[in-house]
Amino acid sequence: MELNENKLHDLLGKVVVEMGAAANGPLIIIGDKLGLYKSLSESGHMTSDELASKTNTSERYVREWLSAQAGTGYVEYDSKSKKFFMTPEQTAVFGNKKSPVFMTGAFYSITSLYHDEPKILNAFKTGEGVSWGNHHKCLFCGTEKFFTPSYENNLISSWIPSMEGVTKKLEKGAKVADIGCGHAASTIIMAKAFPNSTFIGFDFHEESIQQAKSRANDAGVTNASFEVSTAKTFPGKDYDFITFFDCLHDMGDPVGACAHAKKALKPDGTCMIVEPFAKGSLEENLNPVGRAFYAFSTMLCVPCSLNQEVGLALGAQAGEEKLKEAIAAGGFSRFKRATETPFNLILEARP
Ligand SMILES: C[S@@+](CC[C@H](N)C(=O)[O-])C[C@H]1O[C@@H](n2cnc3c(N)ncnc32)[C@H](O)[C@@H]1O
Repeated sequence: MELNENKLHDLLGKVVVEMGAAANGPLIIIGDKLGLYKSLSESGHMTSDELASKTNTSERYVREWLSAQAGTGYVEYDSKSKKFFMTPEQTAVFGNKKSPVFMTGAFYSITSLYHDEPKILNAFKTGEGVSWGNHHKCLFCGTEKFFTPSYENNLISSWIPSMEGVTKKLEKGAKVADIGCGHAASTIIMAKAFPNSTFIGFDFHEESIQQAKSRANDAGVTNASFEVSTAKTFPGKDYDFITFFDCLHDMGDPVGACAHAKKALKPDGTCMIVEPFAKGSLEENLNPVGRAFYAFSTMLCVPCSLNQEVGLALGAQAGEEKLKEAIAAGGFSRFKRATETPFNLILEARP
């Protein structure tokens, strides 16, 4: 078979770029943990010496790190002054935790993918699942770090207002369950915004519930509590609002989870399902966002679902139609796509 030199060259070019990206992942985490991005973005132009002394780190390591960052385009290098700096866009993505596009959290989760590769390789052979709690611990705080900026910037200002009548109920005082709450990023944001309402976060992963309790405590939140429970067995009834943030597709039996949520809701209650953004077909999802989510899905979402009863394994790129089918099969009669972001679909289901 004859090789097309141009195509081969293009493919190798892509692989070299991605090799750099994969190798740079730990450097992003180091930059985040040591405050290298934050200090550089706050201080303007700096030499490696200046950044090292500001962050109390070793200059030789910082110089190498800065060179890798400049080569990647995550920081800029001014060859005249021999100083490094960050543009407002680079700061938004790496330097400012409050920015809606702060992305470093994703790389903590990606660390767990490499650690857990042997487990998933084995699952490819057996077809068995791997439970959420059986992953490297980087996954749990990575998930929290990755989703929090988006929740902080969208949940109260856009997603909840896109649900019919829900903001008013929450302002007045409503009973809310946040299913698959993980470290409670979403629960805490809602509890702070709506002090008259009561929130209960449920997750079947005990360690996550412990973290959720401690996060809520640190945040001074008194109207949220947390319990270990599966989506099909969580206690309580007459909820006004039930939420699923980035977790319905991870469940073995999303239909059963929706059926249980429907039973636990008041007849005029609302269920909000936040899911990764996806279109309905593989062809339409063959793009950078779809590609990233298919990779996460292979390593996390599909194994998590396959490890549970039913094991429907919707995958992170299920898309609106498949989700709608599962939600309708769970007994919800009204469904709409309330809003969306480049990373999320926000779905409203009502009994
Ligand atoms: C991708 S994480 C999302 C966590 C959290 N909602 C957030 O947005 O940060 C998926 C969560 O779903 C939980 N989960 C998966 N299947 C579950 C089930 N059947 N019942 C309860 N929780 C479940 C996992 O433990 C995990 O915390």
